[in-house]
Amino acid sequence: MIETDFILKNYDSNSLKEGNVTWKTPSNIALVKYWGKREPQLPENTSISFTLDACFTLTTVEYSKAKCDEGFNFEVYFEGEKKEEFKPKIETFFKRIEQYVPFLKEYDFVIKSRNSFPHSSGIASSASGMSALALCVMSIEKKLNTEMTDEYFNKKASFLARLGSGSACRSIEGEIIVWGKHSEIKGSSDLFGVKFPQKVHQNFENYHDTILLVDEGEKQVSSTIGHKLMHGHPFAQQRFKQANDNILKIAEVLQNGDLKQFIAIVESEALSLHAMMMTSNPYFILMKPNTLKIINRIWDFRAETNSNICFTLDAGANVHLLFPESEAVIVNNFIINELIQYCQENHYICDRVGTGAKLVSNK
Ligand code: DP6
Repeated sequence: MIETDFILKNYDSNSLKEGNVTWKTPSNIALVKYWGKREPQLPENTSISFTLDACFTLTTVEYSKAKCDEGFNFEVYFEGEKKEEFKPKIETFFKRIEQYVPFLKEYDFVIKSRNSFPHSSGIASSASGMSALALCVMSIEKKLNTEMTDEYFNKKASFLARLGSGSACRSIEGEIIVWGKHSEIKGSSDLFGVKFPQKVHQNFENYHDTILLVDEGEKQVSSTIGHKLMHGHPFAQQRFKQANDNILKIAEVLQNGDLKQFIAIVESEALSLHAMMMTSNPYFILMKPNTLKIINRIWDFRAETNSNICFTLDAGANVHLLFPESEAVIVNNFIINELIQYCQENHYICDRVGTGAKLVSNK
């Protein structure tokens, strides 16, 4: 599919006066990372992620025919409070997607959102937040175009979410999503995320992701700035090639269930991502001393017990611990006894692989 396939034509907004829709949309954690993009929000390499379950955003969009059709008319509430400061990001999102959903200016919107995870936890809320908003917009489009297939609905939701935040396009469906065209992954596209097309080994069923909150609070460098620093980065081309090679390797591992290989790829990806940050101009470090303490403790624990726990990082200091269901008891004990001491106020979140966004209500 190409961009123009996503333009809504021939609709009559007089057939839909008002309504409200609620979506519950998960976050996701990349195994092979997206870091580096070009306009309009297209990735420089393919990425692949586990869709999560417990970390989600719940968004309701109330809509009614616009009183005036100049500009975008919307109010934003987050966790019950009106948030003027969230409006510019949503305004930018609406501007980017308007050509595909031309009815946006024909309605007034009230957007009400909340996260299952603490706002200040340092967990990226853009993936779940932007995908929830994209899904709400799609539910409105579906009322204007009732013939739409589920397949088109999901693809376009992912396409729109991508224009809000790249990683958000991987938060529509589960359980494993690929984003970015790759010659060896059938159906893959730069424009939207697709389900990993092969049968996944049972070792990855119910895979756990326990998130250790090492540093709650705003990141010093946003992902958007980090992506920009990949332009002219001395190692950029090598990094994009490494990621695309790792996609091939992890695609094999997801099918054959080789957990040792899984660990090698996932940990290397996390450290390569942070290596890009440390070698950009200007350079920066998002890991904290406790991030490194946790990593070293994981490596010792693996050497002692032959466990298959591994870590990954997103653009922050928090550590995602990935491990199979079969090791849940032993690894949970290890986390509680040895790792949560490195978390801010002992905070951590138990999550696992999930099946994607859910429609909560549509009236
Ligand atoms: C390190 O999707 O947050 O988490 O497209 O600018 O909104 P924007 O960036 P974002 O970048 C995520 C980067 C990452 C890796 C990943 O999720 O693949």
